[in-house]
Amino acid sequence: MDNQTIAIIGAGNLGLAIFKGLEKGGLLATNKVILTRRELSSLEKIKHQQVMVTSDNVQAVQSSDLIILAVQPKQLSGLLEEIRDHVDPERHTLISVITAVTIEQIEQTIGKSCAVVRAMPNTAIAVLESMTCIACNDKGKAKLSLVHSIFDCVGKTMEIHEELMQAATVVCASGIAFWMRFIRATTQGGVQLGFDAEDAQQIAVQTCKGAASLLAGNGGHPEKEIDRVTTPQGCTISGLNEMEHHGLSSALIKGLVTSFERINAMKGK
Ligand SMILES: NC(=O)c1ccc[n+]([C@@H]2O[C@H](COP(=O)([O-])OP(=O)(O)OC[C@H]3O[C@@H](n4cnc5c(N)ncnc54)[C@H](OP(=O)(O)O)[C@@H]3O)[C@@H](O)[C@H]2O)c1
Repeated sequence: MDNQTIAIIGAGNLGLAIFKGLEKGGLLATNKVILTRRELSSLEKIKHQQVMVTSDNVQAVQSSDLIILAVQPKQLSGLLEEIRDHVDPERHTLISVITAVTIEQIEQTIGKSCAVVRAMPNTAIAVLESMTCIACNDKGKAKLSLVHSIFDCVGKTMEIHEELMQAATVVCASGIAFWMRFIRATTQGGVQLGFDAEDAQQIAVQTCKGAASLLAGNGGHPEKEIDRVTTPQGCTISGLNEMEHHGLSSALIKGLVTSFERINAMKGK
């Protein structure tokens, strides 16, 4: 992707993580980024020839090709009303990372037939390890390769049907929090077993990364990898079964479903 200007409107937690990912992923070498938010003090430290920081959303839209909408859901309609007269359906692609806002809702507020893409990344985008699910309207299909250029360089990207976007929000975006808690609990266990906190966390993080890499590398099945490390009557199977007696898998699945129900309750609000 070359010679594109990407506006990130709402450079907060996720917007800035996307920016950091684009920077680390090398996209700033041949493209420009405009970052906006209303209160600019936290963006003052960003000094880059290819980056402009502004609180003027209209100027950002007028100067850009790809517009990443990264404000909070309740802030979106005001923002779309502010920029809609300046959105050019022939030029602009709107990429929304906003939870529980549908493509149809965005189309209706903009009131023009624009390319609209929904993307659900996670905050690991800042370290180029996001899992990003994307869905688009008909007009967006022609722009998907550009959208892939953004998200492929900051992790892995999967095209999904929009109906699965709420599920993707839970598994991809909330998933970061779930895995963090799992790593934290492993660290606490490690401290109880004698490691200091820093060493325990390092061991937990690297072991988690190793387990994920075993599956990511060869597309294997978790149970096969479990079989490899569980000796009959051994310590691993004893610990694992104890965790399952206390509902480990069940608690995780119930947590995912509860998050999903909550997000569905938010839909349209
Ligand atoms: N965090 C995640 O892991 C994650 C993952 C996937 C999707 N999402 C979605 O991403 C969106 C952003 O989440 P977040 O955690 O990054 O929230 P956040 O930190 O609150 O960021 C939102 C940013 O938007 C700015 N903003 C608000 N109104 C604006 C306007 N009219 N013009 C320009 N900027 C404006 C805010 O700054 P000012 O108040 O200074 O304007 C703020 O920096 C949400 O819709 C969330 O559902 C988040």
